[in-house]
This record gives sequence, structure tokens and C-alpha cells, in this order.
Amino acid sequence: MVHGPNLNMLGTREPEIYGDTTLADIDILLKVTGDELGVDVESFQSNHEGDIVEKIQEAKDKYDAILINAAAYTHTSVAIHDAIAAVDVTVIEVHISNIHAREPFRHKSLISPVAKGIIMGFGAEGYALALRGAVTMINAEKNV
Ligand code: DQA
Repeated sequence: MVHGPNLNMLGTREPEIYGDTTLADIDILLKVTGDELGVDVESFQSNHEGDIVEKIQEAKDKYDAILINAAAYTHTSVAIHDAIAAVDVTVIEVHISNIHAREPFRHKSLISPVAKGIIMGFGAEGYALALRGAVTMINAEKNV
């Protein structure tokens, strides 16, 4: 799970948009959902684009899937787009809010063209939905 910039402020950051769930709560939700599904989940948060690029590069041959909420970098980062395109890993894009129902500058995602699936608008629950979707997708590919 890659959490992008400002998501470390969840809980107090614009709760009318993002709710009052903290990042730690989301990581617990992912861990509990992972336990239920029989998969390990590792979480990483950074406010720095290059650190996110490096984490994605490391995922090659290490993880079956990347769930990513690239936050504001969703709308700007060619570097994160290119890093995802460079690794052969299933990527699921996640957003807490429905970015299409917000300001026009949020309507474009540079992540979507290189994502296998997208979950948005479900609040914190979207992270659990994304994990379930990724596991179902990968199991289908492996014919499990
Ligand atoms: C976000 C939406 C982005 O537009 C915003 O910059 C964020 C969070 C979301 O989860 O809804 O930081 O990715």
C-alpha cells in the first residue's frame, strides 16, 4: 500500500471530505482484511514523489500488487505513471473521495491509464475493497 502526500494528516485533514479515519486506522483495516484474505500487506507513506517512485520500482519481483493512493501526485506525476508502467505488478488506484465530483483539476488522473482497477468515493472502506479486488484479480490470473 503506497500512501501519497498529506495522507499522513488523515483524521484532521478536511474531515468533511476525507472523514475522521486516520492513516493508522486505514493500515489496521488493510491488515485485518489481509489476514481474512490470507495475504500480507505492507504500508508505506511519503510526501515525496521520488520516494514513491523508488518504492514502486522496488515492488518488481517483491509484491503481487500495489494499491496506491497517490493523492495530489495523481494529477501531476508523470514520474509515478512511468514507474508503474515500468514494473510488472498489478496496480489498483484508490481515492477516498470521488475525484470526478470535485474541482476540475482533480478530474485527470495520470495513474488511471496504468492501473488495472480503480476504487474511489467509498471513503476509508475503499482500501478494503481495493485489497479484495486485487486478491480476486490475482487469484483469477493464477487460476487459484
Ligand atoms: C485523494 C484525492 C486527491 O485529489 C487529493 O489530492 C488527495 C486525496 C483522495 O483520496 O480522495 O490528497 O487522492
